[in-house]
Amino acid sequence: MDDARRGGWASRFGFIMAAAGSAVGLGNIWKFPYVTGAHGGGAFLAIYLVCVFGFGLALVMAELVMGRMSRRNPVGAFKRLAGSAWPAAGGLGVVTAVVILSFYIVVAGWAIAYLVYALDGALSATDADALNALFRRLTGAPVAPLLYAAAFMLATAVVVARGIAGGIERMSKLFMPLLFGILVLLVLRAVTLPGAGEGLAFFLRPDWSSVDIGTVSAALGQAFFSLSLGLGGLITYGSYMSPRQNLGRDALAVVLLDTVVAVLAGLMVLPAMMAAGMTPAEGGPGTTFKVLPAVFAAMPAGRLFSIGFFLLLTLAALTSSVSLLEPVVSYLVDERGLKRTTASALGSLVCFALAVPVSLSFGVWHEVTFAGLTLFGLMDFFASHLSLPIGSLLTAICLGWVVGRPALDELASRGQPVAAWAPVWLFFIRFIAPFAIAWILIQGLIPG
Ligand code: TRP
Repeated sequence: MDDARRGGWASRFGFIMAAAGSAVGLGNIWKFPYVTGAHGGGAFLAIYLVCVFGFGLALVMAELVMGRMSRRNPVGAFKRLAGSAWPAAGGLGVVTAVVILSFYIVVAGWAIAYLVYALDGALSATDADALNALFRRLTGAPVAPLLYAAAFMLATAVVVARGIAGGIERMSKLFMPLLFGILVLLVLRAVTLPGAGEGLAFFLRPDWSSVDIGTVSAALGQAFFSLSLGLGGLITYGSYMSPRQNLGRDALAVVLLDTVVAVLAGLMVLPAMMAAGMTPAEGGPGTTFKVLPAVFAAMPAGRLFSIGFFLLLTLAALTSSVSLLEPVVSYLVDERGLKRTTASALGSLVCFALAVPVSLSFGVWHEVTFAGLTLFGLMDFFASHLSLPIGSLLTAICLGWVVGRPALDELASRGQPVAAWAPVWLFFIRFIAPFAIAWILIQGLIPG
Protein backbone atom coordinates (compact mmCIF):
# COMPACT_ATOMS: atom_id res chain seq x y z
CA MET A 1 0.00 0.00 0.00
CA ASP A 2 1.45 3.41 -0.87
CA ASP A 3 2.00 5.94 1.88
CA ALA A 4 -0.71 8.40 0.89
CA ARG A 5 -3.53 5.86 0.98
CA ARG A 6 -2.76 4.43 4.40
CA GLY A 7 -4.90 7.01 6.19
CA GLY A 8 -4.04 9.09 9.24
CA TRP A 9 -5.28 10.79 12.41
CA ALA A 10 -7.75 13.60 11.79
CA SER A 11 -6.59 15.76 14.68
CA ARG A 12 -3.94 16.11 17.35
CA PHE A 13 -6.53 15.61 20.07
CA GLY A 14 -7.69 12.46 18.30
CA PHE A 15 -4.16 11.09 18.19
CA ILE A 16 -3.60 11.78 21.90
CA MET A 17 -6.88 10.10 22.84
CA ALA A 18 -6.07 7.08 20.64
CA ALA A 19 -2.52 6.71 21.95
CA ALA A 20 -3.61 7.27 25.55
CA GLY A 21 -6.42 4.82 24.86
CA SER A 22 -3.82 2.30 23.78
CA ALA A 23 -1.77 2.85 26.90
CA VAL A 24 -4.65 2.97 29.37
CA GLY A 25 -6.11 -0.50 29.55
CA LEU A 26 -6.33 -3.67 31.56
CA GLY A 27 -2.66 -3.09 32.30
CA ASN A 28 -3.55 -0.04 34.38
CA ILE A 29 -6.78 -1.03 36.01
CA TRP A 30 -6.61 -4.79 36.30
CA LYS A 31 -2.89 -5.56 36.38
CA PHE A 32 -1.14 -2.59 37.97
CA PRO A 33 -2.91 -2.83 41.36
CA TYR A 34 -2.29 -6.56 41.80
CA VAL A 35 1.31 -6.42 40.61
CA THR A 36 1.90 -3.50 42.97
CA GLY A 37 0.27 -5.50 45.75
CA ALA A 38 2.46 -8.52 45.05
CA HIS A 39 5.66 -6.44 45.06
CA GLY A 40 5.25 -4.52 48.27
CA GLY A 41 3.26 -1.39 47.45
CA GLY A 42 4.88 2.03 47.77
CA ALA A 43 8.42 0.98 46.88
CA PHE A 44 7.16 -0.68 43.73
CA LEU A 45 5.23 2.48 42.85
CA ALA A 46 8.38 4.58 43.24
CA ILE A 47 10.44 2.25 41.03
CA TYR A 48 7.62 2.09 38.52
CA LEU A 49 7.56 5.89 38.25
CA VAL A 50 11.33 5.94 37.68
CA CYS A 51 10.91 3.33 34.92
CA VAL A 52 8.09 5.30 33.26
CA PHE A 53 9.81 8.67 33.21
CA GLY A 54 13.38 7.38 33.05
CA PHE A 55 12.87 4.88 30.22
CA GLY A 56 9.28 4.81 29.09
CA LEU A 57 8.91 8.36 27.85
CA ALA A 58 12.09 8.24 25.76
CA LEU A 59 11.05 4.91 24.23
CA VAL A 60 7.53 6.12 23.49
CA MET A 61 9.13 8.95 21.55
CA ALA A 62 11.49 6.50 19.83
CA GLU A 63 8.65 4.29 18.59
CA LEU A 64 6.61 7.26 17.39
CA VAL A 65 9.65 8.67 15.58
CA MET A 66 10.28 5.33 13.87
CA GLY A 67 6.67 5.21 12.75
CA ARG A 68 6.47 8.77 11.47
CA MET A 69 9.79 8.51 9.63
CA SER A 70 8.95 5.27 7.90
CA ARG A 71 5.14 5.58 7.57
CA ARG A 72 5.01 1.83 7.99
CA ASN A 73 3.90 -1.06 10.22
CA PRO A 74 6.57 -2.51 12.57
CA VAL A 75 8.03 -4.92 10.01
CA GLY A 76 8.09 -2.33 7.23
CA ALA A 77 9.44 0.36 9.56
CA PHE A 78 12.51 -1.66 10.54
CA LYS A 79 13.01 -2.62 6.90
CA ARG A 80 12.79 0.95 5.57
CA LEU A 81 14.91 2.53 8.25
CA ALA A 82 17.53 -0.13 8.87
CA GLY A 83 17.65 -2.54 5.96
CA SER A 84 17.14 -6.19 5.40
CA ALA A 85 18.60 -7.60 8.62
CA TRP A 86 16.03 -5.86 10.79
CA PRO A 87 12.47 -6.79 9.80
CA ALA A 88 12.64 -9.77 12.19
CA ALA A 89 12.55 -7.23 15.03
CA GLY A 90 9.20 -6.00 13.72
CA GLY A 91 8.07 -9.57 13.13
CA LEU A 92 8.69 -10.40 16.77
CA GLY A 93 6.49 -7.42 17.61
CA VAL A 94 3.65 -8.59 15.42
CA VAL A 95 3.82 -12.08 16.94
CA THR A 96 3.88 -10.58 20.43
CA ALA A 97 0.80 -8.51 19.66
CA VAL A 98 -1.04 -11.72 18.74
CA VAL A 99 0.15 -13.43 21.94
CA ILE A 100 -0.92 -10.54 24.17
CA LEU A 101 -4.27 -10.18 22.41
CA SER A 102 -5.03 -13.84 22.95
CA PHE A 103 -4.98 -13.44 26.73
CA TYR A 104 -6.14 -9.83 26.70
CA ILE A 105 -9.47 -10.75 25.16
CA VAL A 106 -10.02 -13.48 27.76
CA VAL A 107 -9.69 -11.00 30.63
CA ALA A 108 -11.69 -8.38 28.74
CA GLY A 109 -14.36 -11.05 28.28
CA TRP A 110 -14.52 -11.43 32.07
CA ALA A 111 -15.04 -7.67 32.31
CA ILE A 112 -18.02 -7.90 29.95
CA ALA A 113 -19.41 -10.84 31.90
CA TYR A 114 -19.17 -8.85 35.13
CA LEU A 115 -20.78 -5.87 33.45
CA VAL A 116 -23.69 -8.15 32.59
CA TYR A 117 -23.80 -9.47 36.18
CA ALA A 118 -23.80 -5.93 37.52
CA LEU A 119 -26.64 -4.89 35.23
CA ASP A 120 -28.53 -8.00 36.32
CA GLY A 121 -28.01 -7.24 39.99
CA ALA A 122 -26.15 -10.52 40.38
CA LEU A 123 -23.23 -8.91 42.21
CA SER A 124 -25.06 -8.21 45.44
CA ALA A 125 -23.10 -10.70 47.60
CA THR A 126 -20.74 -9.08 50.06
CA ASP A 127 -18.97 -12.14 51.42
CA ALA A 128 -15.67 -13.12 49.93
CA ASP A 129 -16.55 -16.80 49.55
CA ALA A 130 -19.54 -16.12 47.34
CA LEU A 131 -17.52 -13.77 45.14
CA ASN A 132 -14.64 -16.22 44.91
CA ALA A 133 -17.08 -18.88 43.84
CA LEU A 134 -18.62 -16.61 41.23
CA PHE A 135 -15.22 -15.78 39.78
CA ARG A 136 -14.21 -19.42 39.71
CA ARG A 137 -17.49 -20.45 38.17
CA LEU A 138 -17.11 -17.94 35.33
CA THR A 139 -13.42 -18.38 34.60
CA GLY A 140 -13.48 -22.13 35.07
CA ALA A 141 -16.39 -22.71 32.71
CA PRO A 142 -15.46 -24.12 29.33
CA VAL A 143 -17.78 -22.16 27.04
CA ALA A 144 -19.24 -18.99 28.59
CA PRO A 145 -15.97 -17.03 28.96
CA LEU A 146 -15.13 -17.81 25.36
CA LEU A 147 -18.40 -16.36 24.16
CA TYR A 148 -17.63 -13.11 25.98
CA ALA A 149 -14.10 -13.14 24.60
CA ALA A 150 -15.49 -13.68 21.10
CA ALA A 151 -17.87 -10.73 21.50
CA PHE A 152 -14.97 -8.56 22.62
CA MET A 153 -12.72 -9.70 19.74
CA LEU A 154 -15.52 -8.97 17.30
CA ALA A 155 -15.97 -5.43 18.64
CA THR A 156 -12.21 -4.88 18.32
CA ALA A 157 -12.19 -6.17 14.75
CA VAL A 158 -15.11 -3.95 13.72
CA VAL A 159 -13.43 -0.80 15.03
CA VAL A 160 -10.09 -1.64 13.39
CA ALA A 161 -11.78 -2.54 10.11
CA ARG A 162 -13.24 0.98 10.03
CA GLY A 163 -9.78 2.44 9.86
CA ILE A 164 -7.72 5.02 11.71
CA ALA A 165 -9.71 8.27 11.77
CA GLY A 166 -13.11 6.67 11.26
CA GLY A 167 -12.62 3.73 13.61
CA ILE A 168 -9.93 3.92 16.28
CA GLU A 169 -9.80 7.71 16.59
CA ARG A 170 -13.55 8.20 16.66
CA MET A 171 -14.07 5.60 19.34
CA SER A 172 -11.20 6.87 21.48
CA LYS A 173 -12.43 10.48 21.41
CA LEU A 174 -15.73 9.29 22.77
CA PHE A 175 -14.61 6.70 25.30
CA MET A 176 -11.49 8.22 26.86
CA PRO A 177 -13.17 11.28 28.42
CA LEU A 178 -16.01 9.05 29.62
CA LEU A 179 -13.54 6.62 31.14
CA PHE A 180 -11.73 9.39 32.95
CA GLY A 181 -14.97 10.72 34.43
CA ILE A 182 -16.05 7.31 35.73
CA LEU A 183 -12.61 6.66 37.19
CA VAL A 184 -12.49 9.93 39.15
CA LEU A 185 -15.90 9.23 40.67
CA LEU A 186 -14.87 5.72 41.68
CA VAL A 187 -11.61 6.86 43.25
CA LEU A 188 -13.37 9.55 45.29
CA ARG A 189 -15.63 6.81 46.60
CA ALA A 190 -12.85 4.30 47.33
CA VAL A 191 -10.55 6.63 49.26
CA THR A 192 -13.39 7.75 51.53
CA LEU A 193 -14.30 4.19 52.54
CA PRO A 194 -13.92 3.37 56.22
CA GLY A 195 -10.59 1.58 56.62
CA ALA A 196 -9.11 2.98 53.42
CA GLY A 197 -6.20 4.60 55.24
CA GLU A 198 -4.25 1.37 55.58
CA GLY A 199 -4.39 0.71 51.86
CA LEU A 200 -3.39 4.26 51.06
CA ALA A 201 -0.38 3.96 53.34
CA PHE A 202 0.60 0.64 51.74
CA PHE A 203 0.38 2.17 48.27
CA LEU A 204 1.98 5.52 48.94
CA ARG A 205 4.59 4.84 51.64
CA PRO A 206 7.62 2.97 50.29
CA ASP A 207 8.94 0.04 52.29
CA TRP A 208 12.33 -0.61 50.75
CA SER A 209 12.98 -3.79 52.70
CA SER A 210 11.09 -5.92 50.17
CA VAL A 211 12.85 -4.56 47.09
CA ASP A 212 15.18 -6.74 45.03
CA ILE A 213 16.16 -7.03 41.39
CA GLY A 214 12.96 -8.96 40.74
CA THR A 215 11.01 -5.88 41.83
CA VAL A 216 12.89 -3.73 39.34
CA SER A 217 12.37 -6.24 36.54
CA ALA A 218 8.66 -6.45 37.31
CA ALA A 219 8.35 -2.66 37.43
CA LEU A 220 10.06 -2.26 34.08
CA GLY A 221 7.94 -5.00 32.49
CA GLN A 222 4.81 -3.39 33.87
CA ALA A 223 5.90 0.04 32.62
CA PHE A 224 6.52 -1.30 29.10
CA PHE A 225 3.23 -3.15 29.06
CA SER A 226 1.28 -0.17 30.35
CA LEU A 227 2.85 2.27 27.91
CA SER A 228 2.20 -0.14 25.01
CA LEU A 229 5.91 -0.36 24.31
CA GLY A 230 8.04 -3.01 22.74
CA LEU A 231 5.98 -4.54 19.96
CA GLY A 232 5.68 -1.63 17.59
CA GLY A 233 2.14 -0.62 18.49
CA LEU A 234 3.34 2.95 18.81
CA ILE A 235 5.43 2.62 15.64
CA THR A 236 2.15 1.87 13.92
CA TYR A 237 0.28 4.73 15.62
CA GLY A 238 3.21 7.05 14.83
CA SER A 239 3.03 6.08 11.17
CA TYR A 240 -0.35 7.81 10.99
CA MET A 241 0.89 11.02 12.67
CA SER A 242 1.05 14.36 10.94
CA PRO A 243 4.52 15.85 10.37
CA ARG A 244 3.13 19.08 11.80
CA GLN A 245 2.57 17.53 15.21
CA ASN A 246 5.01 18.23 18.05
CA LEU A 247 5.94 14.64 18.74
CA GLY A 248 7.81 15.12 22.02
CA ARG A 249 5.06 17.16 23.63
CA ASP A 250 2.32 14.78 22.56
CA ALA A 251 4.30 11.75 23.76
CA LEU A 252 4.60 13.43 27.15
CA ALA A 253 0.84 13.97 27.28
CA VAL A 254 0.23 10.28 26.56
CA VAL A 255 2.71 9.10 29.18
CA LEU A 256 1.27 11.45 31.81
CA LEU A 257 -2.29 10.31 31.13
CA ASP A 258 -1.30 6.66 31.38
CA THR A 259 0.55 7.19 34.65
CA VAL A 260 -2.25 9.20 36.21
CA VAL A 261 -4.73 6.44 35.39
CA ALA A 262 -2.48 3.71 36.84
CA VAL A 263 -2.03 5.68 40.07
CA LEU A 264 -5.76 6.37 40.27
CA ALA A 265 -6.48 2.67 39.77
CA GLY A 266 -4.08 1.87 42.60
CA LEU A 267 -5.85 4.43 44.78
CA MET A 268 -9.12 2.75 43.96
CA VAL A 269 -8.27 -0.94 44.25
CA LEU A 270 -5.69 -1.21 47.05
CA PRO A 271 -7.61 0.72 49.73
CA ALA A 272 -10.78 -1.14 48.76
CA MET A 273 -8.92 -4.42 49.08
CA MET A 274 -7.51 -3.68 52.50
CA ALA A 275 -10.78 -2.21 53.69
CA ALA A 276 -12.30 -5.58 52.75
CA GLY A 277 -9.72 -7.35 54.92
CA MET A 278 -7.52 -8.84 52.20
CA THR A 279 -3.76 -8.60 52.13
CA PRO A 280 -2.51 -7.10 48.89
CA ALA A 281 0.02 -9.82 48.15
CA GLU A 282 -2.60 -12.55 47.93
CA GLY A 283 -4.55 -10.85 45.13
CA GLY A 284 -3.42 -12.17 41.77
CA PRO A 285 -5.29 -11.85 38.47
CA GLY A 286 -8.67 -12.28 40.17
CA THR A 287 -8.24 -9.31 42.53
CA THR A 288 -10.27 -6.78 40.62
CA PHE A 289 -13.09 -9.20 40.04
CA LYS A 290 -13.28 -10.59 43.56
CA VAL A 291 -12.63 -7.52 45.68
CA LEU A 292 -14.42 -4.61 44.17
CA PRO A 293 -17.89 -6.17 43.88
CA ALA A 294 -17.82 -6.85 47.65
CA VAL A 295 -16.94 -3.26 48.33
CA PHE A 296 -19.60 -1.94 45.97
CA ALA A 297 -22.26 -4.28 47.32
CA ALA A 298 -21.75 -2.95 50.83
CA MET A 299 -22.36 0.66 49.97
CA PRO A 300 -25.30 2.81 48.95
CA ALA A 301 -25.93 2.89 45.18
CA GLY A 302 -23.44 0.06 44.95
CA ARG A 303 -25.02 -1.38 41.85
CA LEU A 304 -24.45 1.85 39.97
CA PHE A 305 -20.82 1.88 41.06
CA SER A 306 -20.26 -1.68 39.96
CA ILE A 307 -21.89 -1.03 36.60
CA GLY A 308 -19.65 2.03 36.27
CA PHE A 309 -16.55 0.07 37.19
CA PHE A 310 -17.02 -2.83 34.80
CA LEU A 311 -18.02 -0.44 32.05
CA LEU A 312 -14.77 1.42 32.73
CA LEU A 313 -12.80 -1.81 32.50
CA THR A 314 -14.48 -2.87 29.26
CA LEU A 315 -13.99 0.49 27.54
CA ALA A 316 -10.37 0.74 28.67
CA ALA A 317 -9.74 -2.75 27.31
CA LEU A 318 -11.32 -1.94 23.96
CA THR A 319 -9.28 1.19 23.26
CA SER A 320 -6.18 -0.93 24.00
CA SER A 321 -7.12 -4.07 22.12
CA VAL A 322 -7.55 -2.08 18.90
CA SER A 323 -3.94 -0.94 19.32
CA LEU A 324 -2.84 -4.56 19.60
CA LEU A 325 -4.74 -5.62 16.50
CA GLU A 326 -3.71 -2.56 14.47
CA PRO A 327 0.01 -3.46 14.11
CA VAL A 328 -1.02 -6.91 12.91
CA VAL A 329 -3.54 -5.48 10.46
CA SER A 330 -1.23 -2.75 9.18
CA TYR A 331 1.46 -5.39 8.62
CA LEU A 332 -0.97 -7.50 6.58
CA VAL A 333 -2.16 -4.42 4.66
CA ASP A 334 1.23 -2.75 3.99
CA GLU A 335 3.36 -5.81 3.42
CA ARG A 336 0.97 -8.50 2.27
CA GLY A 337 -1.49 -6.39 0.31
CA LEU A 338 -4.59 -7.58 2.15
CA LYS A 339 -7.68 -5.41 2.42
CA ARG A 340 -8.15 -3.85 5.86
CA THR A 341 -11.39 -5.73 6.48
CA THR A 342 -9.89 -9.06 5.47
CA ALA A 343 -6.82 -8.41 7.59
CA SER A 344 -8.95 -7.53 10.64
CA ALA A 345 -10.99 -10.68 10.26
CA LEU A 346 -7.94 -12.89 9.78
CA GLY A 347 -6.01 -11.40 12.70
CA SER A 348 -9.02 -11.72 15.00
CA LEU A 349 -9.62 -15.33 14.08
CA VAL A 350 -6.04 -16.29 14.87
CA CYS A 351 -6.16 -14.47 18.21
CA PHE A 352 -9.45 -16.05 19.12
CA ALA A 353 -8.17 -19.53 18.27
CA LEU A 354 -5.24 -18.95 20.64
CA ALA A 355 -7.58 -17.56 23.30
CA VAL A 356 -9.36 -20.90 23.54
CA PRO A 357 -6.52 -22.75 25.31
CA VAL A 358 -5.75 -19.62 27.38
CA SER A 359 -9.31 -19.50 28.66
CA LEU A 360 -9.30 -23.23 29.36
CA SER A 361 -6.07 -22.80 31.33
CA PHE A 362 -8.18 -21.11 34.02
CA GLY A 363 -10.48 -24.14 34.18
CA VAL A 364 -10.25 -27.67 32.89
CA TRP A 365 -6.64 -27.27 31.78
CA HIS A 366 -5.51 -25.69 35.01
CA GLU A 367 -3.26 -28.67 35.69
CA VAL A 368 -1.35 -28.25 32.45
CA THR A 369 1.72 -26.24 33.38
CA PHE A 370 5.01 -25.31 31.77
CA ALA A 371 7.88 -24.71 34.19
CA GLY A 372 5.26 -24.15 36.87
CA LEU A 373 3.24 -21.65 34.85
CA THR A 374 -0.22 -22.09 33.37
CA LEU A 375 -0.56 -21.19 29.71
CA PHE A 376 -1.82 -17.74 30.72
CA GLY A 377 1.14 -17.30 33.06
CA LEU A 378 3.53 -18.45 30.35
CA MET A 379 2.19 -16.01 27.76
CA ASP A 380 2.22 -13.14 30.24
CA PHE A 381 5.81 -14.01 31.18
CA PHE A 382 6.88 -14.26 27.54
CA ALA A 383 5.40 -10.84 26.80
CA SER A 384 6.32 -8.81 29.88
CA HIS A 385 9.69 -10.33 30.77
CA LEU A 386 11.05 -11.32 27.37
CA SER A 387 9.53 -10.05 24.23
CA LEU A 388 8.58 -6.49 25.23
CA PRO A 389 11.99 -5.69 26.77
CA ILE A 390 13.74 -7.31 23.78
CA GLY A 391 11.56 -5.29 21.40
CA SER A 392 12.40 -2.08 23.22
CA LEU A 393 16.07 -2.99 23.22
CA LEU A 394 16.03 -3.51 19.46
CA THR A 395 14.10 -0.27 18.94
CA ALA A 396 16.69 1.67 20.92
CA ILE A 397 19.60 0.07 19.03
CA CYS A 398 17.97 0.58 15.66
CA LEU A 399 17.00 4.19 16.26
CA GLY A 400 20.08 5.20 18.21
CA TRP A 401 22.76 3.49 16.15
CA VAL A 402 21.37 2.77 12.70
CA VAL A 403 19.08 5.76 12.16
CA GLY A 404 20.99 8.16 14.39
CA ARG A 405 20.87 11.91 13.91
CA PRO A 406 18.07 12.17 11.32
CA ALA A 407 15.77 11.00 14.12
CA LEU A 408 16.29 14.38 15.76
CA ASP A 409 14.67 16.23 12.87
CA GLU A 410 11.73 13.89 13.00
CA LEU A 411 11.19 14.81 16.63
CA ALA A 412 10.53 18.45 15.77
CA SER A 413 7.31 19.53 14.12
CA ARG A 414 7.66 20.55 10.50
CA GLY A 415 9.36 23.92 10.08
CA GLN A 416 10.36 24.12 13.75
CA PRO A 417 13.94 23.92 14.97
CA VAL A 418 14.99 20.80 16.84
CA ALA A 419 14.46 21.33 20.56
CA ALA A 420 17.50 21.91 22.75
CA TRP A 421 16.81 18.78 24.80
CA ALA A 422 16.53 16.50 21.77
CA PRO A 423 20.25 15.54 21.66
CA VAL A 424 19.95 14.46 25.29
CA TRP A 425 17.16 12.14 24.23
CA LEU A 426 19.29 10.65 21.46
CA PHE A 427 22.21 10.21 23.83
CA PHE A 428 19.92 8.38 26.21
CA ILE A 429 18.54 6.13 23.46
CA ARG A 430 22.08 5.32 22.30
CA PHE A 431 24.03 4.86 25.46
CA ILE A 432 21.77 4.38 28.43
CA ALA A 433 18.60 2.62 27.34
CA PRO A 434 20.18 -0.41 25.59
CA PHE A 435 22.49 -1.29 28.47
CA ALA A 436 19.94 -0.70 31.18
CA ILE A 437 17.28 -2.76 29.41
CA ALA A 438 19.72 -5.57 28.62
CA TRP A 439 20.88 -5.68 32.22
CA ILE A 440 17.40 -5.79 33.66
CA LEU A 441 16.33 -8.33 31.04
CA ILE A 442 19.10 -10.71 32.05
CA GLN A 443 18.56 -10.18 35.76
CA GLY A 444 14.87 -10.83 35.36
CA LEU A 445 15.57 -14.19 33.76
CA ILE A 446 17.86 -15.48 36.48
CA PRO A 447 15.64 -17.55 38.72
CA GLY A 448 15.67 -16.08 42.16
N1 TRP B 1 -1.07 -0.80 27.31
C1 TRP B 1 -2.23 -1.63 27.33
C2 TRP B 1 -2.66 -1.85 28.76
O1 TRP B 1 -2.11 -1.27 29.65
C3 TRP B 1 -2.02 -2.94 26.62
C4 TRP B 1 -1.39 -2.76 25.30
C5 TRP B 1 -1.92 -2.17 24.22
C6 TRP B 1 -0.08 -3.12 24.94
N2 TRP B 1 -1.01 -2.14 23.20
C7 TRP B 1 0.12 -2.70 23.62
C8 TRP B 1 0.93 -3.73 25.64
C9 TRP B 1 1.35 -2.89 23.00
C10 TRP B 1 2.16 -3.91 25.02
C11 TRP B 1 2.37 -3.48 23.74
O2 TRP B 1 -3.56 -2.58 29.02
